[in-house]
Amino acid sequence: MDLLQKVKQDEEVKALIEASGAVLKSMNYTEHGLRHANYVSRTAGKILFELRYDKREVELATVAGYMHDIGNSINRTHHGQTSALLTYDILKRLNVPFSDISKVTSAIGNHEEQTGFIVNSVTAALVIADKSDAHRTRVTRETYDPNDIHDRVNFSIKKSYVSIDREKSAINSKIYMDNSSSVMEYLKIYIDRIVMSEKAAHFLNCSFNLYINDVLINSPKHIGATQMKKILEEVEE
Ligand SMILES: [Fe+2]
Ligand SMILES: [Fe+2]
Repeated sequence: MDLLQKVKQDEEVKALIEASGAVLKSMNYTEHGLRHANYVSRTAGKILFELRYDKREVELATVAGYMHDIGNSINRTHHGQTSALLTYDILKRLNVPFSDISKVTSAIGNHEEQTGFIVNSVTAALVIADKSDAHRTRVTRETYDPNDIHDRVNFSIKKSYVSIDREKSAINSKIYMDNSSSVMEYLKIYIDRIVMSEKAAHFLNCSFNLYINDVLINSPKHIGATQMKKILEEVEE
């Protein structure tokens, strides 16, 4: 049985993910249960797999993705570090070699935008996967609150996914939102996550391209020298 399967079947991991989801639900946070754990695990693994990292590195990314938020069962604040400490004990019990455990725990302990740094490729994959998970199904509040910017933004997102273009060394994050919110509101609440995802992609020697409704929003449209000259002349007139 591979390591991810062992982790998924572990009773302690199951209980910690459920408890984390319940804690954040009671705080009216977005969904942080099994769905989020599975999405981040799958996406982090896909990123390293498609960039041709070795099999073990891909597996460690899937494990980090699955376990990265279990510390929320203790407290939202510093949950990156508490998740890493809980993960350390569990992987030790599952006889994972210490060098592999530390790759996973360094990644988990650095996944929060407030305190994290991209310290290895597993961290980079985990961060891009985690920060890309914005979607209407993550709103756990019983009733939609139109005065809450997080509700508005998350509810407006109908589809989101990450794709990798290895030829162009590009990681593309695509979001499709309806007009119940706006690009400006998305940026207001997610700018730190976007910046961290850019750093993560650069660590993997890729660019990070964020598209909202098929418009690339984190890179200027290329304007040729002739066109730029014309624009400058118009401005000066
Ligand atoms: Fe987290
Ligand atoms: Fe997360």
